[in-house]
Amino acid sequence: MSFRLQPTPPARPNRCQLFGPGSNPRLFPKMAASAADVINLDLEDSVAPSDKDQARGNIIRATHDFDWGAKTLAVRINSLDTPYWYRDVVDLLEQSSDRLDQIMIPKVGCAEDVYAVDALITAVESAKSRTRPVSLEVIIESAAGLAHVEAIAAASPRLQAMSLGAADFAASMGMQTTGIGGTQENYYMLHGQNRHYADPWHWAQTAIVAACRTHGLLPVDGPFGDFSDDEGYRAQARRSATLGMVGKWAIHPKQIALANEVFTPSDEAVTEAREILAAMEDAKKNGAGATVYKGRLVDIASIKQAEVIVAQSDLIAASAG
Ligand code: COA
Ligand code: MG
Repeated sequence: MSFRLQPTPPARPNRCQLFGPGSNPRLFPKMAASAADVINLDLEDSVAPSDKDQARGNIIRATHDFDWGAKTLAVRINSLDTPYWYRDVVDLLEQSSDRLDQIMIPKVGCAEDVYAVDALITAVESAKSRTRPVSLEVIIESAAGLAHVEAIAAASPRLQAMSLGAADFAASMGMQTTGIGGTQENYYMLHGQNRHYADPWHWAQTAIVAACRTHGLLPVDGPFGDFSDDEGYRAQARRSATLGMVGKWAIHPKQIALANEVFTPSDEAVTEAREILAAMEDAKKNGAGATVYKGRLVDIASIKQAEVIVAQSDLIAASAG
């Protein structure tokens, strides 16, 4: 480890972020009753321009009227290139209850985008004597966002999480696809006659994970558009979890259980991690820095890997109980 230690991300479960349009308040009670760890009420792209005011009002009322339980309650505001975002921030901070946990900024392209929203939040919080500070999360979904991802991750102490938004990202990058995440038919290698499908989202995900881990944020995988394709969702989520992401969005309630399944370490994985920690304890007692577990090398680095899995499992168990 560098002399500068890697910060610990917020200790809260973030396996599934469930989205719903702010213009459709009939969904709110279903969202509140769901098994998602995070709720994202949307003011941005799932809300038509003519419905923005009404959606804002619905969401503000929902911060007062609903029991959101132990969930993280977030609102996605409009992006900074629109005429809506300042009104989103001002009205939310002036009128919503203290139950509002987090504001999500979409299409962030540079650290200054975060700075601007932070400054506005700070002014309204102070003017209204709000005692519970609102945190921030951002979506990386443009070429600029990915190019500046590290500076964005460092932009504000309010920042807690960062998601990859595959659809807008693909459009901004000029990628030839209309798919939202998942396998892309034209992205393959040929080995003889066999096609091997590689993952076009891999680089963006890894860059986001590295920026998040450097600055103590939660890295999250964004939407998977085809909500009739459970196996496709699982495969995408498993790749994200393997790369270090802690959760994934759900754009339909069907996807909540899938995210919770993938991002909750399995009993077998937790048992194996605990056995590795025990094996290393024994090794240490014998003065060894490495040992053999089930025929393979484990050493001091394995302790940290195993601790990641045990810590995730403990965090989820603590939030459930
Ligand atoms: N949260 C909670 N419940 C939801 C839901 C959501 N996001 N989306 C649908 N449901 C409910 C429906 O109300 C329905 O409930 P019922 O059985 O009590 O009638 C049930 O789940 C099945 O819904 P279904 O008929 O399959 O879907 P739909 O046609 O009503 O809605 C979408 C499909 C995609 C329009 C809807 O899921 C949606 O609005 N998703 C969120 C979109 C969004 O926020 N996008 C922005 C981020 S990318
Ligand atoms: Mg988007």
